[in-house]
Amino acid sequence: MNSMKDTLKETLPQPMVSFGKRVLNGYPSLIMSSLREARRFNKAYAKDSATGAEQLEARMVYFTHQIEKGLSHKQFRYGFGKKPLRNLSEVMARYRKANPDYETRVSYVSAMATVGEYVRRHAGHDADLRYVSSLFPPDLLRSAEWIGHKEGGSLSFSRDEKRRNSTLPFRQLNEHRHSIREFAETPITLAQLQPAIESAMRTPSVCNRQPTRVRVILNKDVIEKALSIQGGLNGYPTPPALILLTADNRVFMAPQEHNEGYTDAGLFGMNLLLALEAEGIGSCPLNTMFRKGPERATRALLGIPANESLVMYIAVGHFPEECTTCVSRRLPAEDIVTVIE
Ligand SMILES: Cc1cc2nc3c(=O)[nH]c(=O)nc-3n(C[C@H](O)[C@H](O)[C@H](O)COP(=O)(O)O)c2cc1C
Repeated sequence: MNSMKDTLKETLPQPMVSFGKRVLNGYPSLIMSSLREARRFNKAYAKDSATGAEQLEARMVYFTHQIEKGLSHKQFRYGFGKKPLRNLSEVMARYRKANPDYETRVSYVSAMATVGEYVRRHAGHDADLRYVSSLFPPDLLRSAEWIGHKEGGSLSFSRDEKRRNSTLPFRQLNEHRHSIREFAETPITLAQLQPAIESAMRTPSVCNRQPTRVRVILNKDVIEKALSIQGGLNGYPTPPALILLTADNRVFMAPQEHNEGYTDAGLFGMNLLLALEAEGIGSCPLNTMFRKGPERATRALLGIPANESLVMYIAVGHFPEECTTCVSRRLPAEDIVTVIE
């Protein structure tokens, strides 16, 4: 039986069919799908005014992460993070109201553990401790003291633990990878990065069209300028190398593929992070989801043409002798897995 599409193709005059195809495969269709996405995203995302438990939880994780980053700085700055602490205390209070089961949530426990470490690390710094006490309820602070250090805050390991990385079974390699934001001062060369990049080239992509483009930035001045626009590594020393992953949209063939580059280059990014880890090289993905001004400045600085979408940076370098980073506690699998039987 002929489908409606086939019938129309057979009965309508050819110029009309071509016009219809152009509309379906062209700019109007792209605009419509972008509008649909914008509507869906706007209803869902965790904006300041969000009241849903899921959005409040996401904001709680975000502020927890900001404190975790402060706790993992090599040059610890006493009294850091006044604003994120205040934001965290406010969002935790709102979350307690939005979700009566808040105490069972990994993200809530992780937030408490992070506050607990903040308090422990500020022992003897009474003004900072008074500030924390003014924000959080006393019973929360008492419980926070007893939460295990694996639930949130910072974690440390030594460079020696990474020496066997190339021989580790996948699961172990994956579990022990952490984002590294402070690297050894030793420079890193393209030759040292090449094996990981080549390994990441095995990443699958839609119909093997391989949109990912890789820029390896080794010039300190350019790295500093790029990161000062990006902002996510503020307060850290400049990493020895910065990789930018983009997606070349010229490989795509239809409007509905307009986000495919983010998927494909995102997969490439994860493969690259693990390949670097296997080579005993530290890394941290950094977001490039910019507003118009920073995007324009980044494109101008690095000469990125309009046909490429920025997907992510990856800061790269050798592990320092002692590494401290964020716990970044993960949600339990049952929170994210839905079985459709
Ligand atoms: C796309 C992406 C963007 C990120 N952007 C930043 C960033 O701007 N600054 C930062 O310090 N970390 C950034 N991260 C690192 C995350 O904070 C980190 O991956 C997360 O907390 C999980 O921790 P882990 O990588 O140690 O397992 C980013 C991660 C991803 C995947």
